[in-house]
Amino acid sequence: MTTPGDAARRVEALREQIRRANHLYHVQDAPEISDAEYDRLFHELRVLESAHPELLTADSPTQRVGAEPSSSLRKHSHHRPMLSLANAFSAEELAAWEERNVRLNPDVRGGGYTAEIKIDGAAVNLTYARGRLISGATRGNGVVGEEVTPNLRTIDDVPIELRGRDHPALMEIRGEVYLAATAFRKLNARREAAGEPTFANPRNAAAGSLRQLDPKVTRSRRLRMFAFHIEPIEGPFSATTHHETLELLTAWGFQVEPHHRRFETLEQVQEAIAGYEAILSELPFEADGVVIKVDRRDLQEDLGVVGGREPRWAIARKFAPEVAVTRLKEIRVNVGRTGALNPYAVLEPVEVGGVTVSTATLHNEDLIAQKDIREGDWVEVMRAGEVIPQVIGPLRERRDGSERPYAPLEECPICHTPSVRPPDEAARYCPNASCPGRIFEGIVHYAAREAMDIRGLGYERVRQLLDAELIADVSDLYRLTVADLVRLDRFAEQSASQLVAAIEASKARPLSLLLFGLGIRHVGKNLAQLLARAFPTLAALRRAGEGELADVPGVGPTIAAAVVEFFGNAANAALVDRLIAAGVATEEPNAAPRGGPLAGAVYVITGTLPNLSRAEAGAAIERAGGRVAGSVSKKTTAVVAGVEAGGKLDRARQLGIEVIDEAELLRRVGSAP
Ligand code: IVH
Repeated sequence: MTTPGDAARRVEALREQIRRANHLYHVQDAPEISDAEYDRLFHELRVLESAHPELLTADSPTQRVGAEPSSSLRKHSHHRPMLSLANAFSAEELAAWEERNVRLNPDVRGGGYTAEIKIDGAAVNLTYARGRLISGATRGNGVVGEEVTPNLRTIDDVPIELRGRDHPALMEIRGEVYLAATAFRKLNARREAAGEPTFANPRNAAAGSLRQLDPKVTRSRRLRMFAFHIEPIEGPFSATTHHETLELLTAWGFQVEPHHRRFETLEQVQEAIAGYEAILSELPFEADGVVIKVDRRDLQEDLGVVGGREPRWAIARKFAPEVAVTRLKEIRVNVGRTGALNPYAVLEPVEVGGVTVSTATLHNEDLIAQKDIREGDWVEVMRAGEVIPQVIGPLRERRDGSERPYAPLEECPICHTPSVRPPDEAARYCPNASCPGRIFEGIVHYAAREAMDIRGLGYERVRQLLDAELIADVSDLYRLTVADLVRLDRFAEQSASQLVAAIEASKARPLSLLLFGLGIRHVGKNLAQLLARAFPTLAALRRAGEGELADVPGVGPTIAAAVVEFFGNAANAALVDRLIAAGVATEEPNAAPRGGPLAGAVYVITGTLPNLSRAEAGAAIERAGGRVAGSVSKKTTAVVAGVEAGGKLDRARQLGIEVIDEAELLRRVGSAP
């Protein structure tokens, strides 16, 4: 029996968990619990609040949409609130939804439905005036979002100018920005290789990419968008049903979810659900359900919105994720290349959603403590979509007292150096740069396809070479001979000479790949390229000071400090010298020609240019031998200003630095319009 006191305590605990999850999800783009678990918490809170209306408060997360926007991005008030959707987890809940609507308006039955896939991305709101995109924003709390227009303009699926002429004079287009599964995998692989935190799922990656301060970064993420809603503000539009709305959006130049379909009755929708569920996990983008919408717009209007939060005319049919129960045998810790100590669960193998799972991520020690996960526990394990298996939590009622609480590692499990935990991070690190665990991961990374691309040198071979004491770091690779290798197991004359040749070939890689391969903290593939373009020789880069480095657009102070720290470290400097002595190339062949028309000049770009994106303008400057800086200083040659140029323009004027427009820039780089 639960007492009212129990319910009150549970409600408070749920609210706290949900608020924390909201913040991590919407503000930090770094959730600790899965969407499915969030839905369960939310559902439990809803149920408790409706059973105990006296506990309902205005500040309950059930009464709001998402979290408050944070960050330095400009705020954007939506003309109309951006709504959320109610969920139905079963055929019964879906039928009950229709019943409620029919009671409000009997025409709903037989009025038709449209079903479409629910894309798991980041909701956006695009404002079009006379068919032209004038602004774009994230959802934020549903009323106020963040203005991210320059970022949205980099997305190919976001039309800048609509086709046709039948658009309302002023309207909002709502849709979902997402990252395709392949783009997500590549992005995370790059981040992992760079020692940067990976995104938990494509949704967070999309949201994080949208909220970048540099549109170039957004562009590089290859975001896409599906549109699904027209909110007219001034003037009408011709569609009378949702189905027609999707056709109109297509005609105007938007992409719409391709599996949308009209049904006459809810029974037909119900029959189609199994088919939808079957394709969900196979789509090239992350999807977390099917949205069913009352098709007729007049009925939609009549049904209206509940509590300013959810339309009555639409519902998300969701599918419970695959969950299995198994024994958590042990908590182990993996040492990453950057020294991060990552705890994971070793499980009694169990099948979840058709796949056998024997390990699952535990994220970090705080989460283990928060969920009170112990070695020996029976745990629930979940796999949802692309996401790596997760431990949902322990089944406390099945404990017998033999379970062992987890104590965060005071020392690195490999080299036993005391671990450190930076105050603002959830991860613990092994600070020892010569930790064998870190060295091992570091060599594998150096040889990876994305870095120095040494074919045939993966985890197993690296392990073998280290164990045989043939190598101690990456510079030793260049001394290996066929004779060394053939003495080892699983090496024949041919495979040995292939590996030696692959190592030899890696000497010719451009500087950017070498930089990436060295595994400087925060320096991923893109950053390595930015650095190598700005400082086309290793010698120049090693000489560069923090200020100069931070001036390269996209680099900034944190990365600049990391680069200086890396080369300033005696062991790293010695390693780099050994690589140079081994004959590794230290130049970026495609870097700016030294003699171009803008040689030696430093340009800053600000505002939106009439024709070129910032990336295009930057590339034009670099092709002409110039350099692009992120901030205006006395060293700036000129500022290229477009519309809505802000503080940089003011600063240029203060310093008396020349300000030019796009046309002048094109003239200078030698490609007049
Ligand atoms: S309709 C007024 N359709 O899911 C329109 N939403 O959980 C209400 N979403 O805020 C939403 N795919 O960001 C709709 N095909 C789809 C969707 C979709 C994804 C998102 C949307 C919404 C959230 C609610």
